[in-house]
Amino acid sequence: MTTIGARPLAGLLGPWRDRSPAYAALADRVRLLVLDGRLTAGTRLAAERELAAALGVSRTTVAAAYAALRESGHVVSVRGSGSVVQPPAAAAPAEGEDAGGGSGGAPGHPQVLDLVNAALPAVQGLQEVVERAVRALPRHLGGTGYEMRGVPELREAVARRYTERGLPTRPDEVLVTVGAQHAIALLARTFLRPGDRALVETPTYPTAVRALTAAGGRALPVPVGPGGWDGEALREAFTRARPAVAYLVPDFHNPTGATMPAAQRREVLELAERSGTRVVVDETTADLGFAPGAPAWVPFPGDVVHVGSLAKSVWAGLRLGWVRADAATVREALEHRSPTDLGTPVLEQLVGAEVVDVLDAFADRRRAQLRASHDALHEALAERLPSWRVPRVAGGLSTWANLGAPVSSSLVLAARARGLLLSTGPRFSVDGAFERYLRLPFTLAPERMRRVVDVLADAWADTARLPQALPAPEALV
Ligand SMILES: Cc1ncc(COP(=O)(O)O)c(C=O)c1O
Repeated sequence: MTTIGARPLAGLLGPWRDRSPAYAALADRVRLLVLDGRLTAGTRLAAERELAAALGVSRTTVAAAYAALRESGHVVSVRGSGSVVQPPAAAAPAEGEDAGGGSGGAPGHPQVLDLVNAALPAVQGLQEVVERAVRALPRHLGGTGYEMRGVPELREAVARRYTERGLPTRPDEVLVTVGAQHAIALLARTFLRPGDRALVETPTYPTAVRALTAAGGRALPVPVGPGGWDGEALREAFTRARPAVAYLVPDFHNPTGATMPAAQRREVLELAERSGTRVVVDETTADLGFAPGAPAWVPFPGDVVHVGSLAKSVWAGLRLGWVRADAATVREALEHRSPTDLGTPVLEQLVGAEVVDVLDAFADRRRAQLRASHDALHEALAERLPSWRVPRVAGGLSTWANLGAPVSSSLVLAARARGLLLSTGPRFSVDGAFERYLRLPFTLAPERMRRVVDVLADAWADTARLPQALPAPEALV
């Protein structure tokens, strides 16, 4: 069991005291850390007396906060182990949260505006493709169904797509996985030994960092913002730390929406070659360039390992992703696969094979949806929250709002109480930073995005009254 001590917990909590009574504000902040995934299930919280000392509050305040967390099911008392974090689904839903647990957003809860995940419902036209795949299933029913590398139809379709986009690929250079997340975790286990350095962007897609650290990697953060990657920090990280792995999201990066210029991609390749680093390029969002004139996706050049997925351009519910690498790396990754799973379900793979062949048409629909929602979000923000600095992005699913004050967690809590679910800025950080930032996915329909901004403006009015929300929003306008 991991324990979080009083000081690290105080650091994670940040400026938590945003309402009275203090115990309720403290309990809210711990809940938010659990929901954000920054405190994971099974973690033992710091002892009451120590946390009270670290926060400069009375022990009664911490005891009351822990009691409130037990009451709401976010924490259990384990004899001899103190207070232990519970998985979020086991906890009672917060006000306005979908009772289904997780991120919510289940059909039947239309009043909840769920932007915890940057993802869309299934693309229009998927049902017909699934029906075609069902008709193709009999071809496979005579086999055992263990397809550890992936069914030939899907590996051929993925290989064709890379080849058409300029990266010649054979089917034995493709390994079908259960979504991109599985691919990242598998590659982390394949490439990392305990204590190895894993270069990651900060902010970044947090579940990838969890996969890398779970495999023993030590995260080596390199800053990225809406304006791009910090070239100096990249050079320094590769040259000084010689990381075993670099995990990058170079196209419409999550959460910032940034895209890495071609010259910097070439530089990354050179740096990686010199430092002996395996570069894992996550192209999950690469098909989602929607700005007029945005160039079509081309695979990252050179000797890197590509990760792809249908989750964002088609539907996350398919749980289909892949690794594209040289055949030896694919074999190596396969070795690491068998202890945990024996392949992606065949029917889903057949759906994938049909989908990849019509992916451009599907991605066009996605891009049109995202463009409309992105523009609606910006129009509403310009009107209701003009003090925020929110970059317009050329593609992807989210933008990275600079709030101008370190109030992301307070704002997310205030929005949550009004039925709008978001992830805080620090959730995307490797070291707890970004309390001034908020990821804004534009994944709801345009009229719902306008509603999101209305709720945010109300929540902001509460948040802007907090002492840490300086300079005052008026001064920023
Ligand atoms: C950059 C990135 N990679 C991977 C994933 C997960 O993809 P999948 O659903 O295919 O596992 C996400 C989901 O948010 C993502 O943003």
